[in-house]
Amino acid sequence: MNPIALYLFGATQFIQPLQNKLNIEIGEISFHYFPDKEVLVRIKSDVKDRHVILVANLLNINLNILPLIFTAETARELGAKHITLIAPYLPYMRQDKQFDSSEGVTSKYFGSLLSNHVDALITFDPHLHRWKSLSDIYTIPTVVLHATNNIALWIKEHIPNPFIIGPDMESEQWINRIAQKVDAPYIILEKTRKGDRDVEVMLPATQLHQNRTPVLIDDIISTGVTMTKSIEAIMKRGWGSPICIGIHAVFVGNAYQDLLNAGAKKIVTSNTLPHLTNEIDLNDNIIDGIAHI
Ligand code: R5P
Repeated sequence: MNPIALYLFGATQFIQPLQNKLNIEIGEISFHYFPDKEVLVRIKSDVKDRHVILVANLLNINLNILPLIFTAETARELGAKHITLIAPYLPYMRQDKQFDSSEGVTSKYFGSLLSNHVDALITFDPHLHRWKSLSDIYTIPTVVLHATNNIALWIKEHIPNPFIIGPDMESEQWINRIAQKVDAPYIILEKTRKGDRDVEVMLPATQLHQNRTPVLIDDIISTGVTMTKSIEAIMKRGWGSPICIGIHAVFVGNAYQDLLNAGAKKIVTSNTLPHLTNEIDLNDNIIDGIAHI
């Protein structure tokens, strides 16, 4: 039988590639929340002996983790023979070491939790910094897709003479690839994070190449502080308003407005998470990802 896809927590931006291009049936699922807030999952479509693909927006993960696990377990109870989770944005990747002796490493716990309930994971550009690969913390097969080609294409189409800027050392992995693809110079800023919203950014002593537009690229825009501090430093140096590109549009609170207020010329994101800045479409990448499994 054909695979069947269930969409969870508003991940509807990826319905079209599965339905139209892969002809995958979209299943019917609902969550019933009891008065005491316990949740019951109902999967109305037939999943018996089928490959079930859960496409989930995991942004509000603390709220949605039990509904997600119960969905996977319900599908299994109803006879699903394989469960793949497509999580375009993978949360809990940034606590990748014990930063203080009082803490644990939540990326590891989250990896082990998901690995216990689904059979495979497909995601985009997870925040791999100290972990080198998802297999360090996930025991199931994982497919990591990248937005770098799509970002490079967007830059080529919209910015004639770019100068690529990464806000911190972990950004070099994608900044380097994108700069090569658009044939532009790049620099990496020095970031020091002292708290959730306490970030310092230093520019190296580089000169801006003549007539180039600064393009600041990060994987996650969360509080937006990394971006706003970088924008301020870039503008103070007299390089002009940067174009800001993010892969995962988390945008906590006023982050979007804060970037504009700091002087961003334009803010563009991919559609791993739905946001008004989504201009970089990753639908075709999802199809490649499914081909891997
Ligand atoms: C962390 O190092 C990531 O690459 C991002 O720079 C970070 O998540 C951005 O967070 P925020 O927007 O809260 O500064």
